[in-house]
Amino acid sequence: MCGIVGYIGNNDSKEILLNGLEKLEYRGYDSAGIAVMNDKGVTVFKEKGRIADLRAIVDENVFAQTGIGHTRWATHGVPSKVNAHPHQSASGRFTLVHNGVIENYSGLMREYLQDVAFNSDTDTEVVVQLIEKFVNEGLDVEEAFRKTLSLLKGSYAIAMIDAENDQTIYVAKNKSPLLVGIGDNFNVVASDAMAMLQVTNQFIELMDKEMVIVTKENVTIKKLDGQVVERKPYTAEVDASDIEKGTYPHYMLKEIDEQPLVMRKIIQAYQNEAGELTIDQEIIDAMNQSDRVYIIACGTSYHAGLVGKQFIERMAKIPVEVHVASEFNYNMPLLSEKPLFIFISQSGETADSRAVLVSVKELGYKSLTITNVPGSTLSREADYTLLLHAGPEIAVASTKAYTAQIAVLAILANVTAKSRGIDLDFDLVKELGIVANAMETLCDSKEEFEKIASEYLTFTRNCFFIGRSVDYYVGLEGALKLKEISYIQAEGFAGGELKHGTIALIEDGTPVIALATQENVNLSIRGNVKEVVARGANPCIISMKGLEDEEDRFVLPEVHELLTPLVSVIPLQLIAYYAALHRECDVDKPRNLAKSVTVE
Ligand code: M6R
Repeated sequence: MCGIVGYIGNNDSKEILLNGLEKLEYRGYDSAGIAVMNDKGVTVFKEKGRIADLRAIVDENVFAQTGIGHTRWATHGVPSKVNAHPHQSASGRFTLVHNGVIENYSGLMREYLQDVAFNSDTDTEVVVQLIEKFVNEGLDVEEAFRKTLSLLKGSYAIAMIDAENDQTIYVAKNKSPLLVGIGDNFNVVASDAMAMLQVTNQFIELMDKEMVIVTKENVTIKKLDGQVVERKPYTAEVDASDIEKGTYPHYMLKEIDEQPLVMRKIIQAYQNEAGELTIDQEIIDAMNQSDRVYIIACGTSYHAGLVGKQFIERMAKIPVEVHVASEFNYNMPLLSEKPLFIFISQSGETADSRAVLVSVKELGYKSLTITNVPGSTLSREADYTLLLHAGPEIAVASTKAYTAQIAVLAILANVTAKSRGIDLDFDLVKELGIVANAMETLCDSKEEFEKIASEYLTFTRNCFFIGRSVDYYVGLEGALKLKEISYIQAEGFAGGELKHGTIALIEDGTPVIALATQENVNLSIRGNVKEVVARGANPCIISMKGLEDEEDRFVLPEVHELLTPLVSVIPLQLIAYYAALHRECDVDKPRNLAKSVTVE
């Protein structure tokens, strides 16, 4: 989704802003722009398309020590140069970038800005035009900024510059993430720390409904009533090299390959000195005090939640419901008496999940966030956090975060079970170690998955994934991976459900990828495969050692039956990767998608 950068200091801001925007490219965008300012005024460069296209039109000769930049993911108005940020007020005095959605923008236009000619179709332009209007009416810039913020409904992260003052960037935040980075004689603004790791690793978090006056020497945070807030910076733990591709052609492939290492890191992070798995006692108490766990998430994280339900119910014997975040608030189920909410989110910034967190907090319920990003909004706002330790995930298609989420959920279920005196007949540390080795074997079998992708998916227009029990959940994830990066219409189904409708879609040669990793449903899923083959399908069975049959296309190394999703997903990730590659798709930045979905 949209990204923001800003710089004020002594160096030329252009390169810092463009480099920062490049670091935000992974989040998904359709246009980009920068505005740079010196004592002669403000110059805006913007372009539809990639940062490389923007770079090509930036005038090398402009030297400016203050600037703001933006990557836009269209919400209001088509992707175009005109709708790209920064936007300027009618006179050109104020220039602004914005992430989020101003829900009441049309009402504000009608009420305050009838006489203003708008240049774009965006909700954002209302903000900059309002600021100018209030300044024209006699307010100083800070007052006009504050008054405008107090009128806005919706989500925003904003950075604004004033052509009449090249020594200040005005910043504000509500619901959309924004940080101020601290340097030596310079300061920066970024919607994601990664964008500015090139110049600093010291950041100050901003809270909702705060505004900030940023100069090269000072950062002054204020509430909207003008009260000054003191807050210390924190050190961003991300290493700049973690976000490089190295020798890999794509981040997605790098991140798939990192999964064995991530498993080992997770085991280490959650082990005590005696080698036992451990989780903060307050979290375990919250689990034990709840009569039902509600898992809330979106996309891949939702799929990990489905697997987590199995773990918590089977190991810890606590009932679990899993809900898609975007539906939960509008269709809230009847809650149990003592619910515990678990939010699963790689980014920790997903707006749909955050909206649910806000609602359940208002209802007074406890919450735990499982995320990859320490200090993210969902982490800060929940009562407890468990970290994924997966390292930055850059590719839009989530891979290592999915397996990390599943591993952390397994540990949570396992430690909770033990605290309840439930006897488990396996050692999770040992079993996760076996999983890490199996993942390595699979990552070393890439040629096999590349062959499957070219054989089954080069010319097809659709593909089905089937499985039963937990294999069904992994099938859903396999289908999501394939569709989001290769644009092949792909769906996951419970094997037994096919004959209730979907089997009508099976034609000669339709690829059906079937997972068979569960002993209790092995025969029935194979029966479902026979049903589709009888109607012309081209089946690709991926089974687990011990359950294999001669018709199988690939046999996975054996792991504990509960943990099979951690390995069965890897062929599906790699098949999706190679299918996208063969179709010449932009693997890391699929069309229309954003890495972190910060609007509802
Ligand atoms: O950051 P989150 O885990 O909250 O993101 C949720 C989804 O947007 C995300 O998993 C999305 O479905 C991925 N693109 C899937 O690969």
